[in-house]
Amino acid sequence: MVLHPAQRQEPWPPGVAPARGFHGLPIPGGRAGSGMPPAASALGWLQGPISKCRESNIEASSLYSSATLRIHELTAEERAVYATLKPERLPEHVAIIMDGNGRWAGHRSLKRFLGHQQGAKSVQLVTETASRIGLPWLTLYAFSLENNLRRPRAEVNFLMRLLRSYLESNLQRMMDNNVRMRYIGRTHELPPEVQDKMAWAAEATARNTGTTLTLALNYGGRSELVDAFRGLAAEMKHTHLSPDRITEEDIHRHLYTAHMPDPDLLIRTSGEMRLSNYLLWQIAYTEIFVTERLWPDFRGIHLLEAIADFQRRERRYGGLGEGSADGSGEVDEEAERLKIAAG
Ligand code: FPP
Repeated sequence: MVLHPAQRQEPWPPGVAPARGFHGLPIPGGRAGSGMPPAASALGWLQGPISKCRESNIEASSLYSSATLRIHELTAEERAVYATLKPERLPEHVAIIMDGNGRWAGHRSLKRFLGHQQGAKSVQLVTETASRIGLPWLTLYAFSLENNLRRPRAEVNFLMRLLRSYLESNLQRMMDNNVRMRYIGRTHELPPEVQDKMAWAAEATARNTGTTLTLALNYGGRSELVDAFRGLAAEMKHTHLSPDRITEEDIHRHLYTAHMPDPDLLIRTSGEMRLSNYLLWQIAYTEIFVTERLWPDFRGIHLLEAIADFQRRERRYGGLGEGSADGSGEVDEEAERLKIAAG
């Protein structure tokens, strides 16, 4: 959860600028499309807004100041839903599986590519709503490894062209909305001209301090874990860390997402109840929201509705909820023993 911007303190000590310079592209000689920015580990002093266990790796630059909230720019319908939200309990990170482009087109007897084109419009509109409400992290599954391997070449080529033209034609809107763009996935396997455009958009938006929009491209959750284990194994060779000393934090440090908090909320459109190899490690405690709505019909108001649903949930992280009958969490051992004995 994030604190309402008005309640936040500056997350960095006076005179210390937040880490910058990470553009989410492959690190030469390193893992593809990923990696913690070198300066991120120096953010161990980060305190306050981020309450999760891995706060030390999370970048400060996506923490909002009150100046970045732009509620007045929401539509009247969006404002009505936003008014029902608790600003102090906004998720920090929303991840979305954007599904249903093909069906959207099929329902209209249109070619699949028109569904993708419409889907790209949804990407922009949802990102802008996210930036207006001060959502720090938005991560969209835009192109999976499986899409790359299993879709007809013509569709893959179309998606690559769409991505390039999307980046080019929306850069100014990203700037106007203070959105910073990044990527996760094996992006080095994408066509060079696509990588160039991605680098251009990431670099142009690198100094923006609002929502970080991360596009998962040529991404797979299992391959991310393979890449993370390779990175960790290489590190262990140098540090001589014994395998039985490996911690969850060590694995986390080598994920593409090392610099961001885990998603609080995962939205999937088009009604499918699948994770489709998305952020497998990161969603261990993420709340899942599935909507029948197809991605090309998904708008900012639907993001707000999903957040409203999220805020009605109780997150327990495997513990006892606030509403448990015996809030103390203590077990009356004698009563339990008698219950067990009585069968
Ligand atoms: C699933 O639709 C969606 C994708 C293949 C990925 C999402 C792509 C976009 C939203 C388009 C462009 C994105 C950017 C960032 C420019 P599907 O084809 O699997 O739909 P279906 O299940 O109905 O066939």
